[in-house]
Amino acid sequence: MPSVRPRHVIHSHLVCADYDASYPEIVAGEGAYVIDRDGRRYLDASGCTAAVTNIGHGHPAVAAALARQAQTLAVHPTHVFHSEVLERYLGRLCAFAPEGFNRAWTICGGTEAIENAVKLAYQYHRAKGRTSRTRVLGRRGSYHGNSILALDVGGLKPRRDFYLGLMGGQHLHLSPCFPWRRPAELSEEAYEDSLIDEAAKVLAQHDDEVIAFLAEPVVGAALGAVAPTPRYFERMAALCREHDVLMIADEVMTGFGRTGRAFGCEHFGNHADILACAKGISGGYVPMGAVIAHDRVLEPIVRSGLPFQSGQTYSCIPLVAAVGEAVLDVIEDERLVEASARVGAHLHEGLCTLLDRRGVGDVRGLGMFLGVEFVQDEATKAPFEPALGVAKKVQAAALERGVVTYACRGTVEGTQGDHLLFAPPLVLSKGQADDIVDVLGASIDAVMATT
Ligand SMILES: Cc1ncc(COP(=O)(O)O)c(C=O)c1O
Repeated sequence: MPSVRPRHVIHSHLVCADYDASYPEIVAGEGAYVIDRDGRRYLDASGCTAAVTNIGHGHPAVAAALARQAQTLAVHPTHVFHSEVLERYLGRLCAFAPEGFNRAWTICGGTEAIENAVKLAYQYHRAKGRTSRTRVLGRRGSYHGNSILALDVGGLKPRRDFYLGLMGGQHLHLSPCFPWRRPAELSEEAYEDSLIDEAAKVLAQHDDEVIAFLAEPVVGAALGAVAPTPRYFERMAALCREHDVLMIADEVMTGFGRTGRAFGCEHFGNHADILACAKGISGGYVPMGAVIAHDRVLEPIVRSGLPFQSGQTYSCIPLVAAVGEAVLDVIEDERLVEASARVGAHLHEGLCTLLDRRGVGDVRGLGMFLGVEFVQDEATKAPFEPALGVAKKVQAAALERGVVTYACRGTVEGTQGDHLLFAPPLVLSKGQADDIVDVLGASIDAVMATT
């Protein structure tokens, strides 16, 4: 691919994540590319940084559906009116989900999806007369969103710790299931046993206190596309059923074909009770999230007669429903779930050819959801010093060469380690996947030459 040097623009009015940074000015998107003001095309290997643009940028059918619905009726409250477009969409959404998920509603993003999923699980227990259940069982090395509750139930140390003073502190955090970084002396089976033992002890100690177990089927930004051991979720589900603890799958990144299945939990036996969705659900065309609930969750709530104790101005509005429906059309018509599995396997294979590069420790993931972890010492898996910012430097080197990647840190217990997350649009071609691999190889070489 041709080398490009981004044209830097200082943001004067934006509250930035990094006050000293400057960024290329972007003006358009087209399929797997985004385009800057000078007409330079960047191959989007990150799906708009964080696994959003599953159907690609600038899709005309979704843009048309958005405009049509905006002209017809953008918004109405669900406690006063219902609408055909909303009912049709929710039906389509439930049909797209695994068997038994027959009720859903939409909100504005992933954080709200997590908040609503936790509230729904809480209400499930309240409907059963249980008032002592106020704790969520999360995991370290997981990100579930940026509200105080989502940060609290999540376990991404660098983002969480700053707000500790605002958190209730009652939620519980298990170890992540991270097979590649398991203790060297444990086989994969023994490692899985140790995690299940840990969870069993916590659940026994907090019997009748836990609402739900919350986990990403494949951990995204926090760890870099880490899939669990094969029977981990099946065994966690058995434990959860023993204690009537609901399982919430955080499908915010892994849903809508990202991992080569409609939902990530489908790789691991479909044990979830509630699916929290966002990102790929609208492909970024409107801010959108959804909670999809299994019948077994709704049954006691409906029987209690108490409506779901939630609801926001933009819940279930026609505009969002029309976009969601158009996105599902694209996913189905263009067979993007299958494409994610097929082209994702090709990209995975290509990234694996970089394993012999200095600094590359692991390549992992499922479908079009892949991670590359950097290590200073391949034998011991010791990470680079955080101050070196290796992943950030590789990200910058790749951007200069025309490929957008997503650098993350805190791979090892939240404080050390870095990785890149790959989540390109599912419309990516095999040739474009090869371009990503070529650019990444050259970028890693360039960074390692000076590290
Ligand atoms: C797994 C996961 N859950 C939840 C969220 C929060 O989603 P949002 O940023 O749309 O609020 C994210 C965001 O990156 C995520 O990756």
